[in-house]
Amino acid sequence: MKILIINGPNLNILGVRDPSLYGSETLESINKEIEKKASVLNIEVEFFQSNHEGFLIDFIQQEYRNASGIIINPGAFTHYSYALHDALVDTKLPVVEVHLSDISSREEWRKISVIKPATVKQVMGKKGNGYIEALDFLVEYIGNKN
Ligand code: DQA
Repeated sequence: MKILIINGPNLNILGVRDPSLYGSETLESINKEIEKKASVLNIEVEFFQSNHEGFLIDFIQQEYRNASGIIINPGAFTHYSYALHDALVDTKLPVVEVHLSDISSREEWRKISVIKPATVKQVMGKKGNGYIEALDFLVEYIGNKN
C-alpha cells in the first residue's frame, strides 16, 4: 500500500513560520516521523511539496494510479483552489486534509476549505502530529474498505 503525502505552498519553510501556529518542527523532521510510522504500519509513503498549484496537480495526476490514498496539506490553496479540489476528486482515492494550525479558530477566510468536499476526513490543530493521525486513520479506512 502506498500513500502520497503532499504539502502545498510555504510548508517548505516550517520551522521559520510562526511556531505558535505551526509548531517548531521542519517539514524534513515531520517527514522523518511519517516515514517511521509508515514502516511500523508496513506501508510505503511518497512525499511531495511545491509552492506551485500546477506542480501539485501534475504530481497528483502522475502518481495517483500507483497509490491507495492521499494525505494533503494544501496550505493557503485550501481556501480557494477549486483546481486542486477537482484534481483530488478525479483520483477517486480517499483523501485526508491536514492542517498544522486550527483553521476553524483563525481568520474568517481561513475557516473555509474548498478542499473539504473532496476528503474523507480533516485533521487540524495538532501541528506535526496531525500527519501521523491522518496516516493511522487512512490506513485503517483503506483496510476496512477492502
Ligand atoms: C495551513 C493553514 C493555511 O491557512 C495556511 O495558509 C498554511 C498552513 C496549516 O497547516 O495550518 O499555509 O494549511
